[in-house]
Formats: sequence, structure tokens, C-alpha cells
Amino acid sequence: MTERILVTGSYGQIGTELTLRLREIYGSSNVIASDITPAPEALEEDGPCRYLDVTDPRQLTAVVVENKITHIYHLAAILSGNGELNPQKCWEVNMNGLYNILETARTWKVRQVITPSSIAAFGPDTPKEHTPIDTILRPTTMYGITKVAGELLNDYYHQKYDVDARSLRFPGIVSHETEPGGGTTDYAVDVYVKAVAGEDYACFVSRDTTLPFLYMPDALEALLNLAAAEESRLVHRTFNITGFSASAGQIADAVTARIPGFRCRFEPDFRQIIAESWPRSIDDTDARTEWGWQPAFVLDAMSDDMISKLREKAAG
Ligand SMILES: NC(=O)c1ccc[n+]([C@@H]2O[C@H](COP(=O)([O-])OP(=O)(O)OC[C@H]3O[C@@H](n4cnc5c(N)ncnc54)[C@H](O)[C@@H]3O)[C@@H](O)[C@H]2O)c1
Repeated sequence: MTERILVTGSYGQIGTELTLRLREIYGSSNVIASDITPAPEALEEDGPCRYLDVTDPRQLTAVVVENKITHIYHLAAILSGNGELNPQKCWEVNMNGLYNILETARTWKVRQVITPSSIAAFGPDTPKEHTPIDTILRPTTMYGITKVAGELLNDYYHQKYDVDARSLRFPGIVSHETEPGGGTTDYAVDVYVKAVAGEDYACFVSRDTTLPFLYMPDALEALLNLAAAEESRLVHRTFNITGFSASAGQIADAVTARIPGFRCRFEPDFRQIIAESWPRSIDDTDARTEWGWQPAFVLDAMSDDMISKLREKAAG
């Protein structure tokens, strides 16, 4: 049976690249991109794009039914930094959006729903090093609260209605294709972009702030491999995953080592407190055991690739 895939939040940092990748695998006409902003040229030229606000269940039903959707990658969300600037909107999009997705999946028998969670599901009381999958989940941001509640909602729809809902707690995602969308780890992208543009950078967390990260090619592999995992092997429904951990200073130093003369200042703002409430490193053993998770990139390999891809882009 052919997969008919809907991606929500398709024009964001992860969605743009995931949609293109899914179209390569399943065929452009079988992957419907959707979002509430104008479609980027690369996606519009390549396949179907729909306006879809996930907080509107009628629009969602129409897209799912008209396109005979069998799988949903639900990426529409308000991220941590923007979520603290507008907590009410964060709740509305992240919670009502996910509820509408799961209800639509239940009603119209969508075979699978993949939704990223986040390390923001953890909180200041969570163990900070090698944070395990089953631990204290008491976040202090609205974004984190929606991620914990979303994980529980996924579990509920799986247990009660047999919806095949799966989730990954992404760490900070670093990528060069689409700008990040207002998260606390955006500095780890901005530092490369500024350095390649020949500019200095003012980083919004302190030099010693250490967080887990994942490079986009690994993030895409994780989503695709989790979706393809044999259901009978899954003990968990939400997984910890990580690529590597690094401090903001180590990332800046990796850039300076490749672009001598680049200068990074550290000027923490409100996102410092959010970053400090998250783990420094993650234990992703269960993802490795249950569906073979294996990241390819650590800081040095990622830095080489980021800089070379950003230079290619700048050269047109
Ligand atoms: N990027 C990261 O570092 C990171 C880390 C952890 C988890 N995640 C999770 O991954 C998922 C995708 O994140 P991203 O980085 O691509 O985010 P992003 O902010 O770049 O993209 C989100 C997209 O959702 C869209 N959107 C917002 N409100 C909407 C609505 N009402 N209806 C439909 N679309 C709407 C936005 O227009 C945007 O294009 C999210 O669930 C996020 O929480 C991301």
C-alpha cells in the first residue's frame, strides 16, 4: 500500500529538509507539505503544498481525507524562546495542534504519527549528565510543559485507540538550509552563519553553557528510522536521542579554528535560564537498542560540513 504523507510545519528548520527527503523516498506527489506561511520555492516547485493551520480541525480533516493520508510527520510548533515570549500561543499551537492531529489520526485511521518532543521536556530537577529516558519531567517553560503533555497524549492515543504514535526528544538541531525558528539552541546555527558571512557574533548564552546537539542529517535519519522501526521491538514510544554535547565556547572555538579572525562575544539573555534548566548530556541507549539509532556527526565533522555548505550557498 502506497504511503501518503502529510508534513505539518513543513517550512520550518526541520520540515523543509524532511519534506524534500521524504519526497525523494516516496515520490513528490505522495508527500503533502503544509504550513501557515508562504511555501519556500524549493518545496513549491517540487510537489504539493497546502495552507494548513493545525489548530483548525476542519482544515486538518479536509487535507487528510482529500489526500488519503496514511502517515503524518507533525512538526508544527512554537519553540522554546518564542514560547516564553508568548506562552498562550505556545499552548494553543503545541497542545491543540497535537490533539487535533491525534484525533484526526484516530478518526480517519491514519497509520502512523511521528511528533518530535524535545530535551525541553526535562527540567531543573532532572539529572543533568547522561539523562536517562525515564526520569523527572518537571519543565519550567511553557514549551517544555507542552512537550511532556504531548508525550503523554501520544501514549494515551496509542494505548486507548491503537494510534501508532512515536516521538523523539530532539536536542538542539544544527543545520544550514533553513533558519531556526526561535529556540534556545539557535545560537549553535547563528555562530556558523555569522562567521561565514565575515561578521562577529554575540551569543545569547554564556561560554560554559553545555547542551546536547544533533546535526540535521542525523536528525532526518532518526525520524526516518524511528518511523520504519518494527513496532513489536518498541518498548518505548518516546525516545531520548543525541549526537554530541558541547559548550557554546567549544562551538565558537571550533568555528574560530576553521575561520581565523572570527570573534564571538557571550551576552546571555532570557534564554540562559532556559538553557540551564536542560540536561548537558543525554543517554540514548534505548533508541540504540530498540531501533538501531547511531549518529554519524560529532562537533568537528559537523563544523567542517556546516562551513563548507554555508560557503557553497554564499557562492550561489
Ligand atoms: N529545531 C530544534 O532545535 C528542535 C529541538 C527539539 C525539538 N524540536 C521540535 O521539532 C519540531 C520542528 O521544529 P523546527 O525546528 O522545524 O521548528 P520551526 O519553528 O523552524 O518550524 C515550525 C513550523 O511550524 C509552523 N507553524 C506554527 N504555527 C503553526 C500552526 N498553527 N499551524 C501550522 N503550522 C504552524 C511555523 O510556521 C514553522 O514553519 C517541533 O515540534 C519542535 O518542538 C526542534
